[in-house]
Amino acid sequence: MSTGISIYIIALTVIMIAGIIALLVLTRRMPAPKSEEEKMSHSYDGIEEYNKPLPRWWLWYFYLTIIFSIGYLYLYGGLGAHKGSLNFSQEAQWQQEIDEANAKYQPIFEAYSKLDIPTLAKDHKAIAMGQRIFANTCFGCHGSDAGGTPGYPNLTDNDWLYGKSPASIKQTILQGRNGVMPPLGQNMKPEQLDHLVSYVLSLSGRKFNNLATLEGKKTYDMQCAACHGADGTGNQILGAPNLTDNIWLYGGSFELVKDTIYYGRQGNMPAHKDILGNDKTHVVTAYIYSLSQD
Ligand code: HEC
Ligand code: HEC
Repeated sequence: MSTGISIYIIALTVIMIAGIIALLVLTRRMPAPKSEEEKMSHSYDGIEEYNKPLPRWWLWYFYLTIIFSIGYLYLYGGLGAHKGSLNFSQEAQWQQEIDEANAKYQPIFEAYSKLDIPTLAKDHKAIAMGQRIFANTCFGCHGSDAGGTPGYPNLTDNDWLYGKSPASIKQTILQGRNGVMPPLGQNMKPEQLDHLVSYVLSLSGRKFNNLATLEGKKTYDMQCAACHGADGTGNQILGAPNLTDNIWLYGGSFELVKDTIYYGRQGNMPAHKDILGNDKTHVVTAYIYSLSQD
């Protein structure tokens, strides 16, 4: 907070409190009503107002709130940049809670991190912890049931971009992944692109005119096979999806596959090593691993 703003806030707060006190003092100074029936001098449409003093309990309440506000401003932050004598801050309180939780759970995570993933994936308590980490950190992209949405892979279907081994799943979570499908359709004639899409879709069993798929295969062998494999089953080192299984990251309609080839796609799985650290990643890996094991 800049000094200028700090001074502005302090001035505003002090003037407000002083103003309220002045208002109270002034109303007390007003002459007491001479009788119960005394009226104020104004009258609106024949409606008049009695001159009654403020009720005592109400006044005391008012004094108490003023004292409370001064005490509060002294103890806690509120007067501009002044931190308050308790030095309280929401960040510090949050950090303290995190530290306490870490002290409590760290030994459990450490013990889990010594077990291998397939063993851990059979431990119900570990899986429940992994699921909570997933619900906090991953559900926004992969969905709360890890079922995925277009562009964000389904983690329950045993179809893997980067491989199903525990080591590669953990690597994905710790280091992140960048899938790059280059925009290759822009240099193709419209007809050539349509033939290619027919060929790609025929790999997972859809029926097209044979001539079209044969033409498409020529383009595929030249431009796509290097990444997706000669038979279209993909390459897990590059994260190039299997095109033969009818499971689609970006959608398997003619138009969507055409878009993929024309515009390219770039899936980004962020690295979580700084967010979760090794031990929590180990536990969430076991959870992910467990999802596709039956
Ligand atoms: C910002 C969105 C985002 C978040 C948050 C995120 N992911 Fe991902 N994740 C992705 C995307 C996108 C991909 C696919 C990357 C690609 O297309 O190459 C992916 C891929 C993966 C894969 C690889 C799947 C495969 O088929 O090989 C795993 C495993 C995974 N994520 C697990 C997790 C876990 C566990 C978390 C939480 C700790 C998480 N992700 C958080 C977006 C996210
Ligand atoms: C440099 C390697 C590379 C080349 C060359 C390449 N691809 Fe890809 N392709 C990928 C990667 C990696 C992805 C996954 C992108 C992601 O994870 O976001 C992908 C994704 C796709 C998808 C989406 C699959 C789905 O499940 O939704 C299709 C379809 C596809 N490629 C078709 C092709 C075709 C057809 C060609 C040839 C014109 C081609 N690719 C060339 C690497 C490549």
